[in-house]
Amino acid sequence: METTQQTTAETTHDAVVASRAQRHGKDQRYFDLMAYIVSNTISGEIMAVENYSEMVPLLPNTDAKIDTVKQAVEESKHIKMLASLGKRLDYNVKTEIVEPQWRNIRHHFSTAVKKKNLASCLIIQDLMTETMAIVLYKTLQRDTDPDTAQVAKLILADEIEHLGIGVQRIKEMLDEDADNVHDSLVWAHHRVMPELFSMISTSCHSLCGELQVNCAGIGLDSIATDIEALRVDALDAYMETLDLVGFDTKVTMPLIASMSSYGVQPQADLRLRSDVAPSCSSSGSSCSTSAAPNCGSTPSRCC
Ligand SMILES: [Fe+2]
Ligand SMILES: [Fe+2]
Repeated sequence: METTQQTTAETTHDAVVASRAQRHGKDQRYFDLMAYIVSNTISGEIMAVENYSEMVPLLPNTDAKIDTVKQAVEESKHIKMLASLGKRLDYNVKTEIVEPQWRNIRHHFSTAVKKKNLASCLIIQDLMTETMAIVLYKTLQRDTDPDTAQVAKLILADEIEHLGIGVQRIKEMLDEDADNVHDSLVWAHHRVMPELFSMISTSCHSLCGELQVNCAGIGLDSIATDIEALRVDALDAYMETLDLVGFDTKVTMPLIASMSSYGVQPQADLRLRSDVAPSCSSSGSSCSTSAAPNCGSTPSRCC
C-alpha cells in the first residue's frame, strides 16, 4: 500500500517537473537554483522590513518617518511578489529567515538603533544591503525565465530608489558631521560586509536542506554567471555606492582593500586611486593599498 502511494507521489512530482520544464524551457537544476536564490532574497527582504520599521523613531521629522515606513511597505510587497513567483513556477520558497547571516546583520542594525546611530542604520540598510540587492536583481533580470526577469525588474526599480534615498540622506549628514559619519561607515563595514559577501558563495548553511534541493547540484551556470563574477560585480557596485555618496577615499580605500580577505578583488584598478592612499592621521603610520590591511576585531578609522 505504502509503495503504491510512494509511486503515485513520485509520478505526480515527475509530471510537475516535466510540465514545468516544458512551459519554461528550464531544467530541474534551474528551479532548484531559483528556489535557493528567491528564498534567500526573501530573507533579505524580511530583514529590510524589520530594519526600516525599527529605525523610524530615529528619523528627524515626520516626512522622513513616512518615507521610511513606505520603504518598509515596499519591502513587504517584494516578499509577496517573490513568494508568488515561486508559486507560479512551482518551486518551494521559505518566507522566513533561514540563513544566519541575515540575523547577524539584523543584530548589528539593532545595535546601531540602540546607540541611536542613524548614520550606521542608513549605511547598513540603504547603502550596503540595497547595493547588494541591486546586484542580485540585475542578475535575476538576465538569463532567467521571463516571469522572474519581470519581477526582478519591478523590484529593482524600488531598490534603486531606496539606494538613492540613502545616498541623499548620508550626503546631508556628511555635510553636518563628516567624522561621525565616516566612523559609522567603518563600524558598519567591518560588521556587515563580511556577512553579505559570505552569502555570495557556493555553500549554504541550511537553506538547501530546508528547501530539499540538492545543494551540490545547483549552479549559477543555470543563469549564465558564476560566483566569482557575482562577487566582483558586488564589490564594484559597493565601491560605486561609496563614491556616489562622496565618502573620503582616505577612509574607503582601506575598507575596500580589506575585502581582499573575503577572496575577492575589484574589477576597477585600485592602483588608480593609490595617489590618494590614506595616511593614519592619528598614529602617523600609513595604510598601503598593495596589501590587505589588518582590520582586526576593533576597527579603526584607518587600518
Ligand atoms: Fe526589497
Ligand atoms: Fe529596498
